Amino acid sequence: MQEAQFCTKALEHPIFKTISEVSNNLGMDSYVIGGYVRDHLLNRGESKDIDIVTVGSGIQLAKEVANRLPGQPKVSIFKNYGTAMISTDSIELEFVGARKESYRMESRNPAVENGTLEDDQNRRDFTINALALSLQKESYGALLDPFKGLDDLKNKIIRTPMEPDLTYSDDPLRMLRAIRFSTQLNFKIESDSLDAITRNADRIKIISKERISDELHKILAANKPSSGLTLLEKTNLLEIILPELTSLKGVEDIEGQRHKDNFWHTLEVVDNISKTTDDLWLRWAALLHDIGKAPTKKFDTNQGWTFHGHEFLGSKMVYRLFKRLKLPLNDRMKFVQKMVLLSSRPIVIATEVTDSAVRRLIFDAGDHIDELMTLCEADITTKNPNKQKKYLENFKIVREKIIEVEERDHIRNFQPPVTGEMIMETFGLKPSREIGVIKDAIKEAILEGTIKNDFKEAYQFMLQQGEQLGLKKK
Ligand code: CTP
Repeated sequence: MQEAQFCTKALEHPIFKTISEVSNNLGMDSYVIGGYVRDHLLNRGESKDIDIVTVGSGIQLAKEVANRLPGQPKVSIFKNYGTAMISTDSIELEFVGARKESYRMESRNPAVENGTLEDDQNRRDFTINALALSLQKESYGALLDPFKGLDDLKNKIIRTPMEPDLTYSDDPLRMLRAIRFSTQLNFKIESDSLDAITRNADRIKIISKERISDELHKILAANKPSSGLTLLEKTNLLEIILPELTSLKGVEDIEGQRHKDNFWHTLEVVDNISKTTDDLWLRWAALLHDIGKAPTKKFDTNQGWTFHGHEFLGSKMVYRLFKRLKLPLNDRMKFVQKMVLLSSRPIVIATEVTDSAVRRLIFDAGDHIDELMTLCEADITTKNPNKQKKYLENFKIVREKIIEVEERDHIRNFQPPVTGEMIMETFGLKPSREIGVIKDAIKEAILEGTIKNDFKEAYQFMLQQGEQLGLKKK
């Protein structure tokens, strides 16, 4: 028999001693299991989420533990799942009774029976998540590792404790979790497992969109999101979850003219941007910036391949995609839409950086001008070093020009220097169409550079506009 390994260092927090004593008094065997143990062994820093499994009632154990803690924190009980949670400032504890589970094919709701620790470890997703630490007095800190999870941690492998088809079919979310852990930890998914994911990909449809999106967020937040996105593509999961992206795959050739593969390009853009920003929504914008290209793609004998209006259509598609995936339909979505809509603008103006084009860009991008520039810089995926250098230099010029123009013209949070009330007052008007026409003309004149962004020039301009419309000053 293998000699037991101990890992008491993971159990330094006083809470573990308390749980151990309470379990001992109740005559129940308890263990720390899952992500906390995995992350400790990987030196990922102490996780604040701690899962406790006990051979008995998790709810009873939680209640007794809470009684022993300072301030006696509240226990949240989830009767249907047989789990209980205690939240303190520094940790979140989840208690569950050891279970033997079998899932029915048609739903994610398992038929649950009480079980031993081994039964419970068996039903977990991956060997690296089935590692448990004993909280028994006599074996405190012993590592219980029936599936060689420690070896898999060392060899950087994602493997299921049971036959992979069973593990994934039991809970299809695990297919995404496998890819997510592989991306976050830079682990390889064992090949039988990868085949099983591909075979079971269709089962992802029974999983709630919120849980799918959570995993997508985590993949996108990783250092190199393309690793996960490539696996999603390879296993056919991406086709089901984000068909807008897989539609970008492929290169067509007509009359010797080819366009780039916009799917692989997109993955490069996402990796590029992930080197410069942790902003999740900017990473989403990078992922979606070209989705309008599939439905707008055309071949024209004179112009070659075109994607006219892809930015506008793409930004509309963002709404439908966010709605479908139950992503927030709030300012974050609007930000992603804005980035997609404006994603080509800095490229267009980079060849000839005029003040008026820069003013219009600042006006449209508003507070998100920096993020837009970051996206455009990430969008450079040419393999030609000269071109790459030239494009980056052009954007540098655009960035400098943005600062210069903004310092002078204050367009960023544009407030019309002449208000609607002033226009009404000047010409003795009631609210009417003319006021909008004059206001718009003033804004256009400022952006174009015909007049300065100040009251004096705008007031004079307003008088001229009123005259042209046949209005008389009061
Ligand atoms: N688990 C599982 N199948 C799932 C979800 C979770 O078997 N679909 C088990 C795993 O043993 C996992 C534990 O429940 O380690 C806790 O799950 P969770 O808190 O969701 O994940 P962690 O592994 O802690 O990792 P992370 O916090 O990064 O999601």
